[in-house]
Amino acid sequence: METFDNTIDTRAIGVMDSGVGGLTVLKQLLSVCPKENYIYFGDTKNLPYGEKSKEQLIEIVKEIFEFFEQKNVKAVVLACNTTSATAYEELKDKYPFKIYPLIQSVAKYMSADKGLLKLGVMATEATVKTKTYTKEFKKYNPDIEVIEQACPLWVPIVEKQLTNYDEKQAIYGYLKNVLEFNPQKIILGCTHYPYLMDKISKYAPRELFINPAQIFARYIIDDLKQNSLINETQTGSVHYYASSNPDNFRQNAKMFLEIDETPLLVEI
Ligand code: DGL
Repeated sequence: METFDNTIDTRAIGVMDSGVGGLTVLKQLLSVCPKENYIYFGDTKNLPYGEKSKEQLIEIVKEIFEFFEQKNVKAVVLACNTTSATAYEELKDKYPFKIYPLIQSVAKYMSADKGLLKLGVMATEATVKTKTYTKEFKKYNPDIEVIEQACPLWVPIVEKQLTNYDEKQAIYGYLKNVLEFNPQKIILGCTHYPYLMDKISKYAPRELFINPAQIFARYIIDDLKQNSLINETQTGSVHYYASSNPDNFRQNAKMFLEIDETPLLVEI
């Protein structure tokens, strides 16, 4: 007689971002749960998301979710603060898979620390406009004060590998405001920003900053386990897709993760 073990679900987990930034999250997922099957989608055609409107981002995410639906994934990870802030609420109940938004998950997890009362957030313009970080942290702790700072140059510096820019102006220019607020912690509220940590740490101590990727990955895996969606018995796999210039994606990916295949091109 055939037996069915409902703690094993071999369907893949979709992970998405505008480019290579979400690999900071995939890297943590692979370290917490290497036996899962992952499909990473880098939407390089529409990068940078931070300059787009909420309406544009909802349309873009819909297309990526349709791609994941065709792949029959069990969950999709928004490894992207900007789409968590703009598209998640609109789309969260419309697809046959679980959706994990970065900001909401991380705020829930971090709010267990009731001593956290002054928080800084560095993020994209589109994220800051929605004030999602402030709203989500205040949900759990109304006394918390949050300052959100947009850093429109930071994603282009990472994805275009820019070198010809005034570093003090581009890095400290955005940090100054936040440091003056004297926060206990500063969240790197865009998955591309950890790449800039060496530069950022010239102006403020490294320990002040939180890369939320690790917290987020733990949150996702714990939740998958609770929902009997985890797959810990198979040998894991990762497949990559990009919406333009896959060779460039593979090259840039090295900043965060060595990937052993060139992504397949998918038109969305
Ligand atoms: N890495 C994404 C985020 O976390 C998007 C960055 C962008 O394309 O502007 O917000």
